Amino acid sequence: MAGSTRCLIAGNWKMNGTLQESLSFIHDLGENPAPEYVEVALMPPFTLLHPLAKPFAEKEVCLGAQSMYCEARGAYTGSISPVMLRDAGCHYVILGHSERRDIQHESNTLIRKKMDAAWEYGLEPILCIGEHLDDRECGKTNEVLADQLSVLEGLNAEHPLTVAYEPVWAIGTGKTASVEQVKETHAFVHAELQRLGHDCRVLYGGSVNAGNAEELLACKGVEGALVGGASLKADSFMQIIEAANSAEN
Ligand code: 13P
Repeated sequence: MAGSTRCLIAGNWKMNGTLQESLSFIHDLGENPAPEYVEVALMPPFTLLHPLAKPFAEKEVCLGAQSMYCEARGAYTGSISPVMLRDAGCHYVILGHSERRDIQHESNTLIRKKMDAAWEYGLEPILCIGEHLDDRECGKTNEVLADQLSVLEGLNAEHPLTVAYEPVWAIGTGKTASVEQVKETHAFVHAELQRLGHDCRVLYGGSVNAGNAEELLACKGVEGALVGGASLKADSFMQIIEAANSAEN
């Protein structure tokens, strides 16, 4: 398997968090937020990467970024590079998040270049895939996911990789996919990854919270969660980590 096999609970803070708020978050995380069976990662905004690297490392929380550009340096105003992310202490980088695909119009071609750049400079991509509601309603979910996973075609399967299935209609809406939908879709994603030669960990994302984490993480084929809103508060994030730890135990 490319990358770690431990269950991963990753928090994507999106465009949230000041220095003061993040220091309170760290304080509230307590002494040992990452239990034995679970890997914990957080993706704060770029401005907080450097100040949080050390306090996160002290609590065994892995640092990640929410996006990056595909070049190491140069005249790309407003962009951040994989070299800078490594310099700031990142291990992970989220690529292909639906908010980047939809708002910034990121294409599969660009995402593939970013995957290459992430690997070249030692980052582990968390490749996000997910269908919109109309895709699901038209029965096109698998077609959309296969197209998004096609960026992996021909890429070296030895590189570390995590995939996150995040149905777009479940992101920030409070609607989660049903257990049946999660099991069925994760089985398809795993089969497609196997076909492409990338036998990696697959996370679920989309309105994961302290109340539903246990049920979602118990689904076959779910090897962790990518959490948005519920990762902004230490208590709800820790409850999700606890749920993952019991599921693994
Ligand atoms: P929410 O957990 O807020 O739905 O966000 C999910 C997500 O997009 C994580 O990347």
